[in-house]
Amino acid sequence: MIGKYILAGFTHFLFIALCLKILAFFSPFVLISYYYFLGNVLVCAVIAKLTFGVSKHYLLSERINPENKAVLITGAARGIGNFVAKHLDSKGFHVFASCRDAHSPGADDLRKSCSKRLRVLELDVRSDESVKRAAEYVRDNLGGCEFWAVVNNAGIHQGAIIDLSSIEDFKDSMDVNLFGAIRVIKAFLPLLKQSRGRVVNMSSLGGRFPVPVCGPYATSKWAVEGFSKYLALDLDVWGIRVATIAPEMFQTDMTSGESILGVIEQSWKGVDEEVRKDYGDEFLQGFKTCCSKAMTSVSTPRLDSIAEDVESAIALVHPDAGYQSSRNSPLKFLLNLFVAYPTKLQIIAVRAYYFLLGMPKPQRVLKEIN
Ligand SMILES: NC(=O)c1ccc[n+]([C@@H]2O[C@H](COP(=O)([O-])OP(=O)(O)OC[C@H]3O[C@@H](n4cnc5c(N)ncnc54)[C@H](OP(=O)(O)O)[C@@H]3O)[C@@H](O)[C@H]2O)c1
Repeated sequence: MIGKYILAGFTHFLFIALCLKILAFFSPFVLISYYYFLGNVLVCAVIAKLTFGVSKHYLLSERINPENKAVLITGAARGIGNFVAKHLDSKGFHVFASCRDAHSPGADDLRKSCSKRLRVLELDVRSDESVKRAAEYVRDNLGGCEFWAVVNNAGIHQGAIIDLSSIEDFKDSMDVNLFGAIRVIKAFLPLLKQSRGRVVNMSSLGGRFPVPVCGPYATSKWAVEGFSKYLALDLDVWGIRVATIAPEMFQTDMTSGESILGVIEQSWKGVDEEVRKDYGDEFLQGFKTCCSKAMTSVSTPRLDSIAEDVESAIALVHPDAGYQSSRNSPLKFLLNLFVAYPTKLQIIAVRAYYFLLGMPKPQRVLKEIN
């Protein structure tokens, strides 16, 4: 494995050296010397990204045989989990698709549309007992397969801006999105140690970039990212690889306009009179419109890039530690630029975005301005 990495690095280096030579040959001397330092850095960065991608694609693209490999996915009844379960089944994995309710329409759909290899089981990631039962069920039903990976997909989105989010919203988000994943990992660790398998944690755009408005959700996803980075170090000694998947905006129940409005209305009901007065009813209406517009305008219904990234994290012999599932290259570029800004600049960028979106200001802030 180390040999392959060295080979990939060496090919990468040769590509860069060659490209720079070609550039220097064709570009007018004056131009090269004028832009010497900045030009060098930019050209190197762009070429490095391209060549590393190419060398990795050809040299580190080896995949494991899914034939006798079992994978557990949580939250498979709907959305991304449902799509990924079907995708992994179609690739030949033995999928244990866990749902909170094993008789929900989503669970029935999985039984009907997937191969006989796929098993549906009940698992509520908030319950120690349920997770324990699921781990026992999987262990007893491997049927000669090796348990290879856990995909912690189950997730919830509650709360909004800090004033509209209760402590319960923060606790619930942590309980499902972070502690749920930890419960599942701990229960399946004995099996993963045997196979030297994989842990895949569903993070989010909101776990890698400072995304405003969704406080409890983003907090839990930053925690998932941090936990995963730590876990990768801990589990290295067992040969277990850990990866996070950070999807951008994809159309599922979680990101639908209806669900966003429901979350905000629910949060508003819980806030006390003083906070209501601070914001005012007009704010609420504008806020709801902006949030659902912001969510739906950039989201895509094509979930295949997430499924491919999850499959890469599970099936590649040399997987990445993190994947950013995206269908929207300009958005991806802007976000990566944004994350490199200092906080003060990020705040200015968000102000500009709010302005373009027509995000209202709280009533009290407006009064103080006037
Ligand atoms: N959609 C996006 O744009 C996006 C972007 C970034 C990250 N993500 C992440 O991707 C994952 C899936 O999101 P999604 O968009 O597919 O959301 P979704 O459509 O709302 O589906 C969420 C899934 O999680 C399950 N779940 C919720 N609480 C659970 C619990 N206590 N135990 C077990 N399962 C539970 C739900 O089961 P029930 O059907 O029983 O409720 C459902 O199957 C989440 O972790 C989310 O944070 C999504």
